[in-house]
Amino acid sequence: MKHFFVFTLCLRPLFAAPAFLSQTGLYSDLPRKILSAEVASYIPRFPLWSDGIEKQRWIRLPAGTQVDKSDPNAWVFPVGTQLFKEFAWHGQRVETRLIQKKGESQWEFVSYVWNGDETEAKLAPSTGIQSHLPLTDTIFHDIPSQGQCRFCHQRFGDPVLGYSQIQLGSEPIPGHSSLERAALGYLHGNCGSCHHPEGRAGFTENFYHLTVEASTAEQTPAYTTSVNLKTVNFPIPGLETTYRLLPGHPEQSALIYRLTLEGPQHMPSLGSKIPDATQINLLRQWVAEMH
Ligand code: HEC
Ligand code: HEC
Repeated sequence: MKHFFVFTLCLRPLFAAPAFLSQTGLYSDLPRKILSAEVASYIPRFPLWSDGIEKQRWIRLPAGTQVDKSDPNAWVFPVGTQLFKEFAWHGQRVETRLIQKKGESQWEFVSYVWNGDETEAKLAPSTGIQSHLPLTDTIFHDIPSQGQCRFCHQRFGDPVLGYSQIQLGSEPIPGHSSLERAALGYLHGNCGSCHHPEGRAGFTENFYHLTVEASTAEQTPAYTTSVNLKTVNFPIPGLETTYRLLPGHPEQSALIYRLTLEGPQHMPSLGSKIPDATQINLLRQWVAEMH
């Protein structure tokens, strides 16, 4: 028996993710949707827009461990931590994403795709699944490839984006008005993953993340790297000069323009395809009122 056990262990790559969601520890009884007692749900203040798909999130820490919060901008998670995010469209579960800390600087990114009667979800291929779910007549939700997961979840330290001091803490967000606080928070949650010095859009030096140090709006990266600064790429057609953010002029500000586009120039460049109309209006109003 013992030999058999060792043998089967060797057949599987040491770090392979389980083939089914029921084996990951999120649900204690998956067909009946009973969550494991070890997972805790949480809601980030500034969630990522995913084309209107509803999402739920949970964390599971290994027994007796806790998150090291000594750097408020970069929490460190114990090895073995799992975070889950489940996507549902009109009440029907679509995919459940899992990131798991496998070693001091090793994280695994996978997604599980639900079957039609929601009795099990199966590990998605590492290349993802294009056009998995129709959202409109012409737009489809894709299950991202594991490379695309890492595109957004890129940090020198732990790549967790929504379980953080800014997202879960109670400290005030800088801003002159509630509109401005909402705008800066939205940019943090939806753009700051890539538009961060360690993120994939780091090379643009156009940053949108918040840090706990910024106490005025003017100190936030969204201000210091956008206001009255010219864009590097993709000018707005018909304008002599395109600014990232031109106070008082949303129609001349690339950060609004790129959000309203569909297709390859759409921002965010991954994760959503349908412009977030309500929040774009909020951002427009924020830029319009700025002087
Ligand atoms: C467009 C960028 C983007 C892509 C692509 C992306 N994520 Fe995320 N993910 C985020 C952001 C931003 C958050 C935090 C905000 C939220 O939860 O709404 C997040 C949150 C999560 C969480 C909850 C823990 C955390 O970091 O906050 C999990 C789990 C997760 N993502 C897994 C994945 C997996 C697995 C993939 C690939 C299959 C993936 N993500 C692809 C941006 C992305
Ligand atoms: C998945 C990563 C990713 C996310 C998320 C993302 N961006 Fe970008 N962004 C990029 C990359 C890469 C570039 C550089 C290439 C380009 O311009 O398309 C860029 C460029 C830009 C530019 C042009 C900067 C310049 O000077 O030319 C603007 C403006 C911009 N993004 C705004 C946003 C806003 C606003 C959001 C959030 C709603 C956002 N982006 C979310 C990856 C991302």
